[in-house]
Amino acid sequence: MCSCTGSDQPVNMRDRILGLDRRVPLLDGRLVPYVNLDNAASTPPLRDAMEALERFMPFYSSVHRGSGFKSRLSTVAYDQAHEIVGRFVRADLSTNTVIFGKNTTEAINKLSYRLPLSPDSVVITTQLEHHSNDLPWRGRAQVVHARATPEGRLDEEDFDRKLDEYAGRVALVAVAGASNVTGFLQPIHRLARKVHAAGARILVDAAQLAPHRRVDMKPDDDPEHLDFVTISAHKMYAPFGTGALVGPKRVFLQSGPEYTGGGTVDVVTLDEVYWAGMPDRDESGSPNVAGAVAMAVAAQTLMDVGMDNIAAHEEGLIAYALGRLGAIPGVRIYGETDPTRVGERVGVIPFIVEGVSHFLVAAILGYEGGIGVRSGCFCAHPYVVHLLGLKADESAAWRKQLLNGDKSNMPGMVRASFGCYNNSEDIDRLTEMLERIARGDYQGDYRVNPSTGEYIPLGYEEPLADYFLLEGRI
Ligand code: ALA
Repeated sequence: MCSCTGSDQPVNMRDRILGLDRRVPLLDGRLVPYVNLDNAASTPPLRDAMEALERFMPFYSSVHRGSGFKSRLSTVAYDQAHEIVGRFVRADLSTNTVIFGKNTTEAINKLSYRLPLSPDSVVITTQLEHHSNDLPWRGRAQVVHARATPEGRLDEEDFDRKLDEYAGRVALVAVAGASNVTGFLQPIHRLARKVHAAGARILVDAAQLAPHRRVDMKPDDDPEHLDFVTISAHKMYAPFGTGALVGPKRVFLQSGPEYTGGGTVDVVTLDEVYWAGMPDRDESGSPNVAGAVAMAVAAQTLMDVGMDNIAAHEEGLIAYALGRLGAIPGVRIYGETDPTRVGERVGVIPFIVEGVSHFLVAAILGYEGGIGVRSGCFCAHPYVVHLLGLKADESAAWRKQLLNGDKSNMPGMVRASFGCYNNSEDIDRLTEMLERIARGDYQGDYRVNPSTGEYIPLGYEEPLADYFLLEGRI
């Protein structure tokens, strides 16, 4: 039994997360507490963030524009949110800026427009990336992918070779802090040292890192300094539509923003524009003040709880899960399976049940176990295809079928991903259900919807309206 349960738990966040007491309906009519093992996609909200919003929203007003008390209060709250998020990633805010946007995807896209790049520039990324840290660079520069090892770690020798091969042309190295598929932590500070020695900059997509480990940009003159960091509030227990890009002010002050308009300027004439300073220049239009406040409260809460405490709790959980899932006949785990190497990863475990579609496994877990996971390729097609060891002709076949509108044979895995509030009972529930699935012990008569790949139990009317619907049955 892992040390992450009961009173010896180093961190107990369960009372601080909203909705853990809610029961959800199962196919057989029973109601059970929901087990969310899809935290890598989105985390539930912290009560601290909800309560802060309840106190703040009666005073919510326009920021940086209005003259009334509520506007002044909202402006101070919004500005403070920038500072707290900057502290969360340990940025030197005398030289760096925190730019709020929707999420990490938007933050990386912003950087791809704002970083000076020419068609000849090289951006080195890796085969482990989420599409959001790969596609924005394509078309903006020559993109080179450092390879993954067969088990899914970064092949650092290949990375070194590529950094050498493109010496003088590398504008940026863009790497995930932690993989959203295997949870592998990248050696970001070691890579930063190499990248700086090569005269380039490094971006760390910390969407999957920030909820689990301390992010430390380090001082600007430290060779292990991270030049740019991106994070998403919806993966940090504040799902109200905010993300942040943190990086050097001087990079953004060199040119105008990619989205122009209100709030981005100091002066406009019919012929001229004088752009505002940072971060206003890069936060066009009225910002998501409520989202920024919630994100800052979540960041402060995580700092107060202590990222090392959170990491210790999650490591206990990963070791326990690897032990339990690894013992189920027919379950195959990808990535690192050794419970003693939990320090090399965050709590994301991809697996399959031999002979059962990943879509079907995910559906049974949801409809019959009350367990939320994600299945498929997790917005990381090249990495998942690599981990599954698919041959070129196998990949070509499913791609063709998928492009013809049939996703039913799309390869993939099931992913269980943990947050700071999960406990060993959650893993036990998952284990019990997987044991049942592996021996074919489930009730529903599932049919696949080829256009989505999802399996739905025949004849089941999900009672969504009993819980929440904006309008009657959809
Ligand atoms: N990036 C999120 C995931 O991995 C959505 O599921």
